[in-house]
Amino acid sequence: MTATRTTADLLQAAKAALARHAEGLAATPLTQMFDEHEGRLEALSLNVAGLYADFSKLAVDSPALALLGELAAAAELDDWKARLFAGEIVNPSERRAATHTAERGVGAARDVAAAAVGQTKMRTLVDRVRASDVRHIVHIGIGGSALGPALLLDALGDSGDGPACHVVANIDGVALQRVLAQCDPASTLLVLVSKTFTTLETMTNAASALDWLAAGGIAEPRSRCIAVTAAPARAAAYGIADENILPFAETVGGRYSLWSAVGLPLALRCGWATFAALLDGAAAIDRHFRDTPLADNLPALAGALDVWAATFQNVPTRAVFAYDQRLALLPAYLQQLEMESNGKRVTRDGAPLAGASAAVTWGGTGTDAQHAVFQLLHQGTQPIVTEFVAVIEAGDKLAPTHHRQLLGNCFAQGAALMKGRSFDAALALSGGDPALAAAKSFPGNRPSATLLLDRLDAATLGALLAFYEHRTFTAATMLGINPFDQWGVELGKEMAGQIESGGAFDDSTAALMARAGL
Ligand code: F6P
Repeated sequence: MTATRTTADLLQAAKAALARHAEGLAATPLTQMFDEHEGRLEALSLNVAGLYADFSKLAVDSPALALLGELAAAAELDDWKARLFAGEIVNPSERRAATHTAERGVGAARDVAAAAVGQTKMRTLVDRVRASDVRHIVHIGIGGSALGPALLLDALGDSGDGPACHVVANIDGVALQRVLAQCDPASTLLVLVSKTFTTLETMTNAASALDWLAAGGIAEPRSRCIAVTAAPARAAAYGIADENILPFAETVGGRYSLWSAVGLPLALRCGWATFAALLDGAAAIDRHFRDTPLADNLPALAGALDVWAATFQNVPTRAVFAYDQRLALLPAYLQQLEMESNGKRVTRDGAPLAGASAAVTWGGTGTDAQHAVFQLLHQGTQPIVTEFVAVIEAGDKLAPTHHRQLLGNCFAQGAALMKGRSFDAALALSGGDPALAAAKSFPGNRPSATLLLDRLDAATLGALLAFYEHRTFTAATMLGINPFDQWGVELGKEMAGQIESGGAFDDSTAALMARAGL
């Protein structure tokens, strides 16, 4: 009699097979993979909703893809996707659904309807503020209540005709002070963004900004505040009028919240049509992710490849370089999305994870980073997966040479990382000096992926960010972890509270506190 294989057996078998295959494939150079597989580029590239993704320079082959498919099946990726879009609980440690896709109109009917109610109120407020004499918006929030909105503004804000929007996150007063120095209390509106409406940094900055309004002659500073929150009762108790409170659902996580009223500054700066186009672009990726089988599913394939690299090939970091100035804040946004979501050590059932759950995400802007950190990408000893993000249509109106050189440099870096330069070739360039040749040779065979957007507008940016969200969800699901909680941020917060209340600490920390007069 054949025993039925349990889910745990299937997961274990898929993981063991992937680990074995990764070990075997380690000896095969990328260039050889291209030589041996004629259709490699076609098999490893996808084009969806204005995003072209080329994964062919990643160290992956067809058997690895098949095994990743087995792992996705064993991890019940399709079921978890269905639960996500049905508004069922996918965040068990907080007993919550994750309804950010409903903000884009894709999800359970009740969640989509609730999001639409929120959008109607938001739109009324946007139209009111844009028609007023408000010239400056000071958006105060942190983490997911800041990184997404800041990215949206930096990427799309140039084309806006609304008030100038400034995002303040850090509790370091320098951040707020610098922004307030650019504003006039008489024409400034504060947007206080906090899902919980309790976050230390946000409430501290809000209090100081209110003091600044009062000192600037505003008789009722709180009437110059909009609150964006999942705790509207707290905002009301803070003294914010109901028409200035934009609520969003508890089931929209902070780092997934820019689609809700958290994205208000983009709508204020650029108008409702731009915000709606952002949501539509994201919805195109939602439907694609929901309905497409793994092999042709852009976010799912990318998430599976992230698991392949981080967990099975043991590549500890993923470097993302935006070859577009408008996407300069993308790496910081992705750091929260990916590391707060998937930087976990146990599965959603509490079992310890055997390997890495997620790579460390870091990065910067091209071409700047080429003159700073790329030395290590090309010749350092750590394994790194590099990701390039570029846009075909130029964002500037200067001579076309700027954009040609920008894209040319981006593509050359991926090619150089893969090709390298042999010792012999370096020797010929080094006058026969072997030490110099060693310094001038490049091992090559360094993996990279490239995302190429047709253009950067609200729709393609929405698609890009939704792509990263679903990619993160896929990776989490394949490893059985919960990407929607963030318990790891709590202990530090608690201990900061103990410092304020004079708690006892270890010798090192106590000495630091004494030195700083805390
Ligand atoms: O401390 C982490 C965190 O909870 C993030 O997940 C969140 O985006 C951020 O703080 C801000 O939280 P809130 O929106 O509740 O102020």
